[in-house]
Amino acid sequence: MHDFRYVGKRLFCEGVAVQTLAEKFGTPLYVYSQRTLTRHFQKLDQALAPLDHLVCFAMKSNSNLAVLRTMADLGGGFDIVSGGELQRVIAAGGDPSRCVFAGVGKTVEEIEFALRRGIYSFNVESEPELHRINQVAARLKKRAPVAVRVNPNVSAKTHSKITTGTYENKFGIAFENIEGVYSRARKLKNLWLRGVQMHIGSQITEARPFELAVRKVLPLVAQLKAAHGLEFFSIGGGLGIVYDPALASGTPEWWRSAAAKKVLTPATYAARLVPLLKPLGLKILIEPGRFISGNAGILVTRVEYVKRTGKKNFLIVDAAMNDLIRPAFYDAYHEIVPLTRKGGAQVSSDVVGPICESGDYFCKNRPLPKLGEGDAIALLSAGAYGSVMGSNYNARALPVEVLVNGRRFAAVRTRQAVAKIWADEKTAPWQK
Ligand code: LLP
Repeated sequence: MHDFRYVGKRLFCEGVAVQTLAEKFGTPLYVYSQRTLTRHFQKLDQALAPLDHLVCFAMKSNSNLAVLRTMADLGGGFDIVSGGELQRVIAAGGDPSRCVFAGVGKTVEEIEFALRRGIYSFNVESEPELHRINQVAARLKKRAPVAVRVNPNVSAKTHSKITTGTYENKFGIAFENIEGVYSRARKLKNLWLRGVQMHIGSQITEARPFELAVRKVLPLVAQLKAAHGLEFFSIGGGLGIVYDPALASGTPEWWRSAAAKKVLTPATYAARLVPLLKPLGLKILIEPGRFISGNAGILVTRVEYVKRTGKKNFLIVDAAMNDLIRPAFYDAYHEIVPLTRKGGAQVSSDVVGPICESGDYFCKNRPLPKLGEGDAIALLSAGAYGSVMGSNYNARALPVEVLVNGRRFAAVRTRQAVAKIWADEKTAPWQK
């Protein structure tokens, strides 16, 4: 469910015509619906109501300050993966004591910063990291709250680049070794064994992998709770969304089979997991990113040229893989719709960007309405892992981001000035 829909022939975000935004701010342009963000957060929050719980928004999916503020105002916490993300939370008015810090490569500086700011927990990914956190905490005369990330070795049946819960991945500590790790960690005086964490992957569209993983680690978690007095269990993020309701041809097989399943609703997710988790008597954290932000955003772009070759109809648009890398990187499917609905026959089209790489495309051989120069289109479900994965490749400025609330809208990120792209660079002293 999201708040992008046609009213008559025009695509709206909540109460605002997207065309109005495209004209006012130019393209490429990200548009976010605050109502969708809020509804998705609340649905999950309410589904978990029978448990003492905290929804920690995985801000790697969308870290715009206005999005973070929306989450903070709803009472959410944050799943962060760098010192920079913690600084963003603080800049957005969020509360560090509701942040969990994940990631396999935390630096001494990041650990020190997070400790000084009083985060809720470090989600620890290796024993050397436990020792490092203990040392930093000792220097600061603090006790660092930690949770070890269990790798349950359960396949999440998703794209290989976003699966994390098997021993093929760099994440977490193997299930079999966890008890030993906690016993050794307990001897480290400046650690506070506060919880345990897991995360099996992303864009998971069935409840089953979550259920299997929870069932597998549950006895271990209960044992750890008894032995070390843990306070929380984080079951990670990963709830998938529907990218392709029409199941158009040309969608990669793994993506199509994921989308073919019914939407995984918070109600289904909770119905399977709450009965398992409730008897544990621990605070339950979840770390959803895509589920909250994915369908809350679109990327708007304009057709610059129509190029017909003998074989292809290329729509060359003003957005590129630097603005939204998911199709190039994961073969991801994003539904594409015109801002003004068109009738008539569909044309098999490739929507491509201006970057000098053949990977710079948004779709291939997709039946789309006949579009011409100047027509604007929207790539749907671009609110998660869209703008955050943007880059300045080809010296392209980062796009505008707009937040809509009812009939109100505001640029929550202005278009980057081109000269800012190289503002931190200079020539070497020996270059005249
Ligand atoms: N918790 C941990 C420890 C994670 O590693 C992740 C995502 C999440 C939570 C949130 O997962 P979500 O609820 O959003 O599925 N760039 C990729 C997705 C990478 C996900 C990385 N970790 C994409 O565009 O599909």
